Amino acid sequence: MKILIGGGSGFVGRELTRLLISKGHEVTVVSRQPGPGNITWSDVESKGLPPCEGAVNLTGENLMNPLRWWNESYKKDLFSSRIDTTRTLAQAIAASPNPPHSWVLVSGVACYKPSLTAEYTEDSEWAPFDLLSRLVKEWEAAALLPQEVANTTRQVVIRPGAVLGRDGGAMKQMWLPFWLGLGGTLGSGRQPFPWIHVSDLAGIIAHSLEPPTPDTSSDSPQVLNGVAPALNNNYEFTKELGRVMRRPTLLPVPGFAMNALLGSERAVVLTQGQKVIPRRTLETGYQYKFPDLTSALEEIVGR
Ligand SMILES: NC(=O)c1ccc[n+]([C@@H]2O[C@H](COP(=O)([O-])OP(=O)(O)OC[C@H]3O[C@@H](n4cnc5c(N)ncnc54)[C@H](OP(=O)(O)O)[C@@H]3O)[C@@H](O)[C@H]2O)c1
Repeated sequence: MKILIGGGSGFVGRELTRLLISKGHEVTVVSRQPGPGNITWSDVESKGLPPCEGAVNLTGENLMNPLRWWNESYKKDLFSSRIDTTRTLAQAIAASPNPPHSWVLVSGVACYKPSLTAEYTEDSEWAPFDLLSRLVKEWEAAALLPQEVANTTRQVVIRPGAVLGRDGGAMKQMWLPFWLGLGGTLGSGRQPFPWIHVSDLAGIIAHSLEPPTPDTSSDSPQVLNGVAPALNNNYEFTKELGRVMRRPTLLPVPGFAMNALLGSERAVVLTQGQKVIPRRTLETGYQYKFPDLTSALEEIVGR
């Protein structure tokens, strides 16, 4: 199959590209930069969707960009980088004479209200309650295809938790403090920490790109929670990472320090969390390679 990946140059996109190529598929990346194997967003806007059987959007300004202050311009970029690119691809799919059979958006679990007790499946009702949940609402709305296109193009929305892997995402920023023995629980440590190994997120996306069968056809988007089935909290994650790295994790970071450092609207993704259950993801038959923290962290740390 020919697969088009918006933001395919990033952390998840590189893993997905490796996986799809290993399965014999062809990948074209949509990027801000022209380059070999790439087309640009202006190419999609001016020339339309290139021929493809599947399309994915993984584009987005990094929420934890260490080089940017949390201010209005950064928030604007978080929204526009996701929503504008998603809309560009959805419109190109709708206008294409040969639309792909699958269209996958990767959004996030920030739509579910943080809670120590509530458990969220893909069927859980939710309404925006803060900045990041508003972002998810507008992002997923931008992906919606017109009814007549949705009859032939399967729409999938995957909501990942923190994506764990060696080459990017949350681990990239945690590596040094943990290695120096400065890692510790964040806030109370009791907050749920929904996570997924990058290889499983790539696997779920690839699974969603397979041609729809009569039992997977639907004209409304299929939502899949992109989290591992293990439910862990921040304390369990911190202790397990310290154990696997053979480093102490004795220095808790108080919630107020996280708020001061990151801005409270963004610090919520670390100081609060949601218990997210991948019920429908499991029902699709996807087999996780790393269903528990120990196997995921041992692979990432290289033990
Ligand atoms: N990583 C996680 O823990 C995590 C968790 C939940 C959800 N997600 C979502 O999953 C998607 C993929 O995550 P990722 O970690 O692979 O992302 P990433 O590596 O940070 O970024 C993906 C790509 O987005 C493009 N991009 C970055 N900033 C941009 C901007 N300001 N305007 C336009 N394009 C921009 C870049 O492509 P070019 O430079 O080639 O244009 C980049 O390679 C993102 O939408 C993210 O929000 C990630």
